[in-house]
Amino acid sequence: MKNLCVLISGSGSNLAAIINACHDGKIPAQINCVIADRDSPGKHHAFQAKLPFLMIDRRLPQAEFSAALTAAIPPDSDLIVLAGFLSIIPPALTEAFARKIINLHPSLLPKFGGAGMYGLNVHRAVLAAKEKESGCSVHYVDNGIDTGEVIARARVPVFPDDSPASLQQRVQTEEHRLLTATIAHLLSLPTATTHTH
Ligand code: GRF
Repeated sequence: MKNLCVLISGSGSNLAAIINACHDGKIPAQINCVIADRDSPGKHHAFQAKLPFLMIDRRLPQAEFSAALTAAIPPDSDLIVLAGFLSIIPPALTEAFARKIINLHPSLLPKFGGAGMYGLNVHRAVLAAKEKESGCSVHYVDNGIDTGEVIARARVPVFPDDSPASLQQRVQTEEHRLLTATIAHLLSLPTATTHTH
């Protein structure tokens, strides 16, 4: 059985989608640990599913936070999924788990990525730019912000009467589908079983 480690900061709707997909067999894996960087409401999904959960406070001094996060990732993780995780991943982890850490971003990267582009900020920027379509992307995590190679994208239309919240809702529905399908795909690749550390 392959192992997924899931990192969250927010409401955990993507975590819930991953839990359901593992349960239904759409993702042939188990979640070995859920890690939050704050008192995230999403933790209740981990509790409900009786998954190992831990919180590493993002307000710790950066070196301490990085060391704690690096130590917390189970070494047998086949894939580390940032499902709305807002803290920066330390280089020690991106090197140890090269091409095994993926992030979900609520825009069609490379558009509307980078520092400050998270949550409703992204959808506000999309509306301000009068984009006709938006969507979400899953990408490998490197040492930049939203700069790693894009693995998959899903598109949604932007309607003239959209608010940032209505657009966010449309994108999130696609996120759940895209993230679970991409995880299943990546786990089916032979390289996903090779540990580099
Ligand atoms: C998602 O919109 C994701 O794209 C972004 O953070 C949000 C997390 O939502 N990175 P949730 O906590 O999974 O509900």
